[in-house]
Amino acid sequence: MLGLSAVTPEEWVQKALADLDTFLIDHAHCEMKAATNAMALIARYPDEMDLVQALTDLAQEELEHFRQVVALLAQRGLKLGKPQEDSYASLLRSASQRLPKRHESRFVLIDRLLVGALIEARSCERFRLLSVALLAQARTEDDRKLAHFYDELMRCEAKHYRTYIDLAKLGAREFAYEVEPRLKMLAGAESAIVQNQAESPQATVHG
Ligand SMILES: [Fe+2]
Ligand SMILES: [Fe+2]
Repeated sequence: MLGLSAVTPEEWVQKALADLDTFLIDHAHCEMKAATNAMALIARYPDEMDLVQALTDLAQEELEHFRQVVALLAQRGLKLGKPQEDSYASLLRSASQRLPKRHESRFVLIDRLLVGALIEARSCERFRLLSVALLAQARTEDDRKLAHFYDELMRCEAKHYRTYIDLAKLGAREFAYEVEPRLKMLAGAESAIVQNQAESPQATVHG
């Protein structure tokens, strides 16, 4: 789904449910990083007004998600704390830097947008898994609310995936035809990263 070349291993959702508090803390950090990454792209490409406008909207939504997840942490008596090491995003960025680059400056932008797209796609896929599993085992109204929350986020992250892909095609200009093949190459690297992390005892949004 959504440009991913491999689905999340089945055990992932059971591990996430087994320690939902740790998952939620990681999720809050992911939303904050999604907002700051969008703002960093705006700062780097201030002359690309389509990008500036689209990523301002996206950053605002990510910040709202962050606010909502932080509220969930507070309800549960949890602290945000310092983030755990996030090797998924850094490995994905390294993989994007190894893609062939014929038109250097254009492709630096395109690849950053494609990294953003795949991060959104993986979040979307996993929020759906979590929403379905939470609903299946829901006992209370709060459980159902949490399942509904992840269903809403899943839809939002799907929209963000499309925003990043559209911006990549727009930014690529005459090289727009190269976006889909590059996305496929990067998705192959992304699925390898996910498979390698499948052994980790704690499920995080991207780990
Ligand atoms: Fe988000
Ligand atoms: Fe997002």
